[in-house]
Amino acid sequence: MNPDASGPAVHYYMIRGGSQKRNVTILEPGTVGNEYIKTYGHYHVGELDETYWFLAGEGIVLQQKLVDMSQPDVVADFKATKVKAGDSVYMPPGYGHLMVNTGQQWLVMVDDSPVEGTGDSASMPGHADYEMVKKMRGFAYYVVEKNGTPVLVPNKFYREIKKADFGGITAV
Ligand SMILES: [Fe+2]
Repeated sequence: MNPDASGPAVHYYMIRGGSQKRNVTILEPGTVGNEYIKTYGHYHVGELDETYWFLAGEGIVLQQKLVDMSQPDVVADFKATKVKAGDSVYMPPGYGHLMVNTGQQWLVMVDDSPVEGTGDSASMPGHADYEMVKKMRGFAYYVVEKNGTPVLVPNKFYREIKKADFGGITAV
């Protein structure tokens, strides 16, 4: 949300094992400015789905589907979902996704996406497209701390959001 805001040097850690061994992601708690620490967010190349299982902590999952991949600023469907340890979230094909740590502990999760497309487990997997998110400076909403509670703040670079489900989280 604010590239000049200060925050921890490391936001999250990943161990990539792929569909069989799974991938593990651990998010630090805290904020960058007022924005909670999150994963970068990506769309999948092709018709790939995946599932995230949450093992520890609490957070919010953001998902969004564009009307057309050539128009990164028009969102057909935006969804925010509160999650805690024990929950799982399905990411359907076409839905970009990112995870936000809104708790005091590490947010720990496992997913089943493939690592194919790279020669090693430390590089970005071939199925994930981060460029569209980078271009739009994030998803359609940012998760920001307000009086100790997470709220959704619109990203002004988006032109239109046709349908939104905030999952009971206040949008300001
Ligand atoms: Fe993914």
